[in-house]
Amino acid sequence: MKKLLILISGQGSNLEALMAARQAGDLPVDIVAVISNRPQAAGLEKAAAAGIETRVVKHTDYPEREQFDAALAAAIDAYAPDVIALAGFMRILTDGFVRRYEGRMINIHPSLLPSFPGLNTHQRALDEGVRIHGCTVHFVTPQLDHGPIIVQAAVQVRDDDDAQTLAVRVLQAEHRIYPLAVRWLAEGRLHREGQRVKINVPIREAAPLIVPVSG
Ligand code: GRF
Repeated sequence: MKKLLILISGQGSNLEALMAARQAGDLPVDIVAVISNRPQAAGLEKAAAAGIETRVVKHTDYPEREQFDAALAAAIDAYAPDVIALAGFMRILTDGFVRRYEGRMINIHPSLLPSFPGLNTHQRALDEGVRIHGCTVHFVTPQLDHGPIIVQAAVQVRDDDDAQTLAVRVLQAEHRIYPLAVRWLAEGRLHREGQRVKINVPIREAAPLIVPVSG
């Protein structure tokens, strides 16, 4: 069984989605650890309650970004993971750290990249008046929120949406696509060709690549 390690900073709802998928038999991986940069991250308790090992590497303990990344890498490498999933992990990582795990580290981002990298994606989508918003799972590369795209889900923007209501529906879509992407990576079904990713799955399974979440 491939080893999955999850990095979080907050509530950990994507972490919960991954744990639920594993429980349901849809994600055949061993979740070896959950590591947070924030000790108060609610996701830590959720992981511990599920019997998963948790660690905290506080970024505030390290004056330099490189030092934090070195400590984080040491914590990660102790578990020798095959796949690293950033799930609401809110730190910018150094190039060296990213390259160390390139090809096996993925991130979920709450927008249809390459639109709206960075923070406050839902408000920025509303401010731009887009009709279709969503989320993206991508390989992590040194350029922030810009790695090869694995899967996206589209969410319709309603006239009465605000950033909160939109965030709720995007998060539901995140929970659908992240377990898929992690499974595909763990099963060796993803092949990077430059900025593009080819997915070797049956057509039926690839069908929800664009998930119209309107309800
Ligand atoms: C999610 O929208 C995630 O994509 C973003 O942070 C939000 C919270 O995620 N990076 P979670 O509930 O902690 O998984």
